[in-house]
Amino acid sequence: MTVDELRRAFLAYFEERGHRRIPSSSLIPHGDPTLLFTTAGMVQFKPYFMGLAEPPARRLTSIQRCFRTTDVESVGDATHLTAFEMLGNFSVGDYFKPEAIGWAWEFLTDVLKIDASRLWATVFTTDDEAAALWAKQGLPADRILRYTAEQGNWWGPPGDTGPMGPCSEMHYDWGKTPGCRHCEADTCHPDIGCGRFLEIWNLVFMTYYREEDGSQTDLPAANIDTGAGLERLASVTQGARTLYETDELHRLVAVAERVSGRKYDAEESPEIAFALRAMTEHSRALAFLATDGVLPSNEGRGYVLRRLLRRAIYFGYKIGIREPFLEQMVDAAIDLSHQINPQMLEQREFIKRLARVEEARFLQTLDRGLTLLDEVIVREAGTKRIPGRDAFTLYDTHGLPLELTVEVAQSHGYEVDRAGFDAEMDLQRERSRGDETFTSNNDDRALRYAALGIETAFVGYDGLDARSEVLHLERDGEPVARLDTGETGEVVVRESPMYPEGGGQVGDHGLVVTPTGQFRVRDTQRYGETIVLTGEVERGHIEVSAAAEARVDAVRRSDTARNHTGTHLLHAALRAVLGTHVRQAGSYVGPDRLRFDYTHPEAPTEAEMATVQRMVNVKIRADIRSETFVLGYEEAIERGAIAFFEDRYTDTVRMVEYCDTRGFDPEHMHTSECYSRELCGGTHLHATGEVGMLIVVSDVSIGAGLRRIEAVTGASAERFVEDRAGLVNTLARRFKVPAAEVLGRIDALEESLAAERKRVEEADRRASAGLADDLAARAEQIGGVSVVIARIEAESPDALRGISERLRKLGIAFVFLAANANGRPAFVAAASEDVIARGLRADEVVRAAATLAGGGGGGRPNFAQAGGKDASQIDAAVEVARKAVLERLGG
Ligand code: ALA
Repeated sequence: MTVDELRRAFLAYFEERGHRRIPSSSLIPHGDPTLLFTTAGMVQFKPYFMGLAEPPARRLTSIQRCFRTTDVESVGDATHLTAFEMLGNFSVGDYFKPEAIGWAWEFLTDVLKIDASRLWATVFTTDDEAAALWAKQGLPADRILRYTAEQGNWWGPPGDTGPMGPCSEMHYDWGKTPGCRHCEADTCHPDIGCGRFLEIWNLVFMTYYREEDGSQTDLPAANIDTGAGLERLASVTQGARTLYETDELHRLVAVAERVSGRKYDAEESPEIAFALRAMTEHSRALAFLATDGVLPSNEGRGYVLRRLLRRAIYFGYKIGIREPFLEQMVDAAIDLSHQINPQMLEQREFIKRLARVEEARFLQTLDRGLTLLDEVIVREAGTKRIPGRDAFTLYDTHGLPLELTVEVAQSHGYEVDRAGFDAEMDLQRERSRGDETFTSNNDDRALRYAALGIETAFVGYDGLDARSEVLHLERDGEPVARLDTGETGEVVVRESPMYPEGGGQVGDHGLVVTPTGQFRVRDTQRYGETIVLTGEVERGHIEVSAAAEARVDAVRRSDTARNHTGTHLLHAALRAVLGTHVRQAGSYVGPDRLRFDYTHPEAPTEAEMATVQRMVNVKIRADIRSETFVLGYEEAIERGAIAFFEDRYTDTVRMVEYCDTRGFDPEHMHTSECYSRELCGGTHLHATGEVGMLIVVSDVSIGAGLRRIEAVTGASAERFVEDRAGLVNTLARRFKVPAAEVLGRIDALEESLAAERKRVEEADRRASAGLADDLAARAEQIGGVSVVIARIEAESPDALRGISERLRKLGIAFVFLAANANGRPAFVAAASEDVIARGLRADEVVRAAATLAGGGGGGRPNFAQAGGKDASQIDAAVEVARKAVLERLGG
C-alpha cells in the first residue's frame, strides 16, 4: 500500500463510520499563543474539546500536517521527522474508549492487514477499562502493558495549558534486535528502546484540562483524540525498516543521492545515509513550513526554519557537496507533496528562491565558521569545552546555529558552554530590544465566560444599532451587579453590533445606553463565544439585566471599513502585479490607516508599486459591489478564495467578494472574473467606490522575504495628498518658481553649490602650495640637510599634512609643522630615510611635541601626526621639536 493509498484508506474508513473529514490546518496555529507550531491533529480542535466552540460534527477525521522541534538533532536517523502527517480520528463528547480501540484494531488488522501477532498495546497504569478492551480484541495479556505518564501513556497538553488525558499506544514488533540483552532474555518491551518496537498509533482519552497554575480540571466531556504517523504506518505496511524507505520519502532520498553523488546505503556507510536522510527530511520540512508562511529570521518560527535549512546544508557540506543544492531538493519535495497542499504550487518559485538566497548566504559563512570552530577545538583541547562566547560569535557573526556547533563539538567529544551562550544572547537582546513575547492567555478568559454560560451574538454586519440586554458586568476582573458614573469596566450584551478585534481589524467603539445610564465603549474583544465591551460609564449607572441599546461609532466603523476593503484590493493588486506567491503575513486595519505584511523576496520596483496603487484606484473608481457568502470551507477554497494562512478551519466560512465588471487593462475589456475573493470575518463596504482613494505611504522590508506596506484611504488619503501638494507649493513659493520647476531649481542649486565647493578647494590648495613654497625658500640647513620647523596658520590637520607632503617633495629632509586648528593644537612631522638613519624619527618628534600640549598621537618613522588640548603650548612644542632635531642632526 503506497503512502497515498494509506491516506485515502484511513479517511474512507472513518468517513464510513460517521466522521466528518476536516482539511489540515496551517502549521502556524490559529490564534493560539500557547503553541509555536501545529504539533498534532487535535490542535485545531482544541476549542471543541474545551467547550469553547461548537464542532462541525461530533466525529471528525483529518490528516494534519505537523511540525515538531523536539527531535531536530535526531533527524537523520531511521525514525525521527520534524514534519510529518498525522492521521487522526476524533470524538467530541461522542464515542469513547470501546469504539476508539475497536476501530484502531480493525483498521490495522483488517484494512491494513497488519499481522496481529506483531501488535502490542500499552495503557495508562490504572486504566483497567482500556486493558480489558484490548484483551477483548484478542490481544494476549503479555502484550498489553501498563505504562506510567513518564513512559509515555499520558498525552498533553500540547503547550503549557490545554486539554490532556491518559492514553493508549499501539506498537509494532519488528522482531528481536541482535545484541539486545532484553530481546535475548525475552523481556524486551517498547519502553526499552532497542529499535525493535515502533509506536504507530496513539489513542488519547481527552478528559482533563491543565490550567496555567498547573492544576487539573475536567473538560466538559470525555473526548477521543488519536494520532498515527503516516510514514510510520507506511513503513509497517511496506515492510520498510526506516521511514526513508517508504515510497514517498524514498523518492526524495533519490534526489539527495543525485545532488550529492553519494549512494544511500545504511549498512555500508551509515554516516552518508544519515546525512542524506537529514537533507531529505529538512528539505521537505522547509517546503511545508514556508508554504504556511514561515520565513527565515533570527527568532521564533523563523529561527527554527533557518536552523533546519542550515542543518541540511551542513550535512550536504559534510558529505562533500560544494555547490548549492537546496533549491533542487525543495523543488522535488514540492513535486512530492503538493497534492496534500496545493498552495505549494503557487508558492513554488517563492520557496525555491528563498532556499537559494538563504543557502548562498549561509555557504558564504559556513566554510569560515567551521574553520573557526576547528581552531577553537584545537585551542580548547585541554578543557574539551567550547566557551559560550565563541559559540555565540560563531552564531552571531558566522550564522552557525548553536545546535550545529553542539553537534560538531560532540562529534569531537567536546561540550558547549550553553549557559555562557545564553548569557551572550541575553546581552544581545538587551542591545536590540523589541522582542515580542506572547503574554495573555485568552483561553482562560474564554473558559471563564463559557462556564458562566455567557454568549454574545454578533449582529453588526447588517446594522450599527441593536436592542439588547446587559448580560454581565465586570470591574477589575470581578463580576459586579452595577457600574456607576466614572467607573471603567466591561460590559457583555446579548447582541453586539460592535465588531470584536479580529482578522487584523480593530475592535469597534460606541455606546451602550440603558434606561439608567450610558456606557462609552472604547474597545471590543472576543473571548470564545463572548464579546466583551470595555470602557466607562459616562452618565448615570448601568445594571445587569437592564434593557440596552448598543450603538456603534459609525464614522470610525466606516473609516475602518474603507481600510479593510482597501486591504483586500491591495492584496489582489499585489498578486496581480508581483505574482500569486504574494500572501498576507499579517495586517492591521484601523480607522486611520492600514498596514499589510506580505511575502515577496525583493523590493518591488517603483514602477511596480505605482502599478499596484493605480490598479487599486481603478478598482475603486469601478465601484464594484461587494458580495458576501457563507458557505462550506472546501467550496470557498475551490472557488479560489484566498485564506489567510493562519485561518482556522470552520465548518462554514464567510467569503467576501469584489467581482469585476471591467478588468484592469488598457482596452477596458469587460470580464466577469472576480477581482478579489477572500475568506474574511471583517466588516466591509458595500462597494469599492466608498474607499475614495488609496495611497501607499511606504513599502519597506521587515525581514527576509517579508515586506510591509502602509497605506491610507478616504479622508486620510485626501489629507495625505493635500499635505504633499501643499509642501510642493511651499517649495515653489520659497524658490520663487512654478511648482513644476522646483526640481529643476534644486538641481541648478546643487550644481552651483558643487562648483562653489570646488572653487574653494582649489583656492585652498593654491594657498597651501604657496605657503609650502615660502617655507621651502626659508628652510634652515641643519647637519647638512634642509629642515623646516615652523608654526603656521592652517584650518585642519589635513591642511598641515598637505603642506608637509609638498615640502618633502620639494626636497626638505625633515619637516615639523604646528598649527592652531580651530582652537586645537595640531602637529605633523615628516622625515626622509636619510635622517631616520641618523636617528631623527617623525613619530618620536611628534609624540614629544604633542605630549607637551596635553595630547598624544602616533605614526611611522617617516610620517606622523598628532593633536593636543592646550593651544597655549604650541610655541613651546615647536621649541621641543627644534631641540630634538638639533640633537639628532648634531646642528
Ligand atoms: N494528540 C496525540 C498525539 O499527538 C494523538 O500523539
